[in-house]
Amino acid sequence: MGNIQVGLFVGSLRKESFNKKIANYLISIAPKGYEYQLIEIGQLPFYNEDLEGDKLPAVYKEFRATIEALDAFIFVTPEYNRSVPAVLKNAIDVASRPYGKAKWNKKPAAVISSSIGAIGGFGANHHLRQSLVFVDVPTMAQPEAYIGHVAKLFDEQGKLINEDTAKFLEDYLAAFSTWVERFVKK
Ligand SMILES: Cc1cc2nc3c(=O)[nH]c(=O)nc-3n(C[C@H](O)[C@H](O)[C@H](O)COP(=O)(O)O)c2cc1C
Repeated sequence: MGNIQVGLFVGSLRKESFNKKIANYLISIAPKGYEYQLIEIGQLPFYNEDLEGDKLPAVYKEFRATIEALDAFIFVTPEYNRSVPAVLKNAIDVASRPYGKAKWNKKPAAVISSSIGAIGGFGANHHLRQSLVFVDVPTMAQPEAYIGHVAKLFDEQGKLINEDTAKFLEDYLAAFSTWVERFVKK
C-alpha cells in the first residue's frame, strides 16, 4: 500500500510568501501514510485554448500529468483584491481542459487562505471554492481556515512561532485526512 499523494498549491509566487510558509509547515507535519509535496504553478503560461492539440506546451502536459498522479489537493492562498490570485486560477484552468478530460475530477481538497489583514482571505477562499465545485472537487467544508494577521505568525527565519496556529493546522490536517479517506482507498 502506497502513501496518499497530496499536492499543495500556493497562490503566491513571492519568495517570502506567508502562504508558502504555511504550505511548507503543513509539509513538515504531514500525517503518517501521506506524502505532501509543493506543486509549482508559476511556470504555466496563461491558459489559451488555441494551444490544445499539436501545439500543447510541454509545461501544460507535465502539469496535467502531475495533477493526474495526485490523490488529493490542499490550496493555500492569499486574497488578491478580494478574490483568487490569477496564478492559482490559471493552474485550475490549465488542468481543467480539454473539456471532459479535467484532471481534478472527484479528488478531495481543502482550502486555506491567509492575509496580513484581519479577514484572513475569506473572499479568495470562497471564490476558489466556486471554481472547485465546477471542476468536481469535493472540498472539505469544516473546519474552515481563514488565517488573519499572518505576518505576526512567523519569525525572521520563516519559522511558525504562534502555538495556537500550529495546533489549529495540526487539527486541520487530522480533519483533512478523515475527509480524504472518504474518497481515497489505498
Ligand atoms: C495585488 C494584491 C492584492 C491584495 N489584495 C488583498 C485583499 O483583497 N485582501 C487582503 O486581505 N489582502 C490583500 N493583499 C495583501 C496580502 O494579504 C499580502 O500581500 C500577503 O502577504 C500576500 O500573501 P503572500 O505573503 O503569500 O504573498 C493584496 C496584495 C496584493 C499584492
